[in-house]
Amino acid sequence: MTWSSISSCDHCGGTWRETSEALICRSCGKTIQTVTDWVKLDTEPLLPDRPAYKGQIGEPSAEYMRVFRSHYRPIMDAAPLDRSELRVLELGAGLGRTTQAFVREYAPALYIASEPFSSLAVQLRQSLNAWDYRWPKGVAANYNANCAPLLRPGAVNVILGNSVLHHILDYECGLEHWREVLDTPGIMIFGEPIKEGWVYWTSLVLAVLQAWRGGTVELAQKSADTLERHSRIMRERIANHDNRSYLAGLDDKHMFSPLKMMALADRLHMSLSVHKLSRDVLQLMRIRLERIGVAETDARTVLDYLREIVPVGIQDTAMSDFAAMFVFRKV
Ligand SMILES: C[S@@+](CC[C@H](N)C(=O)[O-])C[C@H]1O[C@@H](n2cnc3c(N)ncnc32)[C@H](O)[C@@H]1O
Repeated sequence: MTWSSISSCDHCGGTWRETSEALICRSCGKTIQTVTDWVKLDTEPLLPDRPAYKGQIGEPSAEYMRVFRSHYRPIMDAAPLDRSELRVLELGAGLGRTTQAFVREYAPALYIASEPFSSLAVQLRQSLNAWDYRWPKGVAANYNANCAPLLRPGAVNVILGNSVLHHILDYECGLEHWREVLDTPGIMIFGEPIKEGWVYWTSLVLAVLQAWRGGTVELAQKSADTLERHSRIMRERIANHDNRSYLAGLDDKHMFSPLKMMALADRLHMSLSVHKLSRDVLQLMRIRLERIGVAETDARTVLDYLREIVPVGIQDTAMSDFAAMFVFRKV
């Protein structure tokens, strides 16, 4: 069985819909053989170890549902797609929080939730089996997005990945493959780190350290060391953004500038839109300081200083967040 036989009718290649007893082809009306062994779709040797994506991967939850509604829904709702015929390929589904949110909100006709790590894939499959979905068929597939998916051209009309693209070494090549399996109209949605935000943040951390050295900002040595380490890591990542052998050794590999994405979209003959998330810039910086382990009192001192130096108007710019939604459209 290949993935394409799941998403199309054997008679005419059309997609299917569910009646109470059977799967019926939308185009020719013939009954499509029900696939019983529907999770047997291994396309690649699985990656053996579970990745260490601290704080980036989670079970379905009410909190994530809210994230999905604010980040993904406006994009999906504006997409020129037939709601009764959504066919989705999700990359790097992890433990299925985006899978569940999407299926609950849109009841797609087909949803392929894929995952390349064996331990995550097993858990994902168990979750899919346990959820009571209102869809004809959900598929948990093993797919390492560094290679081409075994789908027929136009098999899906939505491709999405939440915090996935930046882990894929060959994402540029991936985009070319995914464009092929995307129908027209079709949409690819990626929630990813935005380079402008990270470069700006790194500059701010350097400014804080400079102020600490000059005695303008008082910090415990430990907090200054933490900031120093963080800025070193960030500068190294930014400086090596094109260095494949360096990136191959990292879990978090890429950061995406809208400028680079626009060039890629041009090359793919697709349109691109970049959606800012409506999050408060100083609140995000506070969370970042906490995540990297700056003590609470020092974090407050840093934030007071940042309030003075962060320019007016930053909230409306690409530098005000660590992530953005990148949307490629095939029209
Ligand atoms: C930060 S987690 C996000 C998981 C999930 N999308 C979520 O929002 O909870 C990154 C995901 O990307 C997946 N990933 C990493 N490298 C990948 C690759 N080469 N192909 C496909 N997925 C990959 C990981 O297995 C992991 O599930």
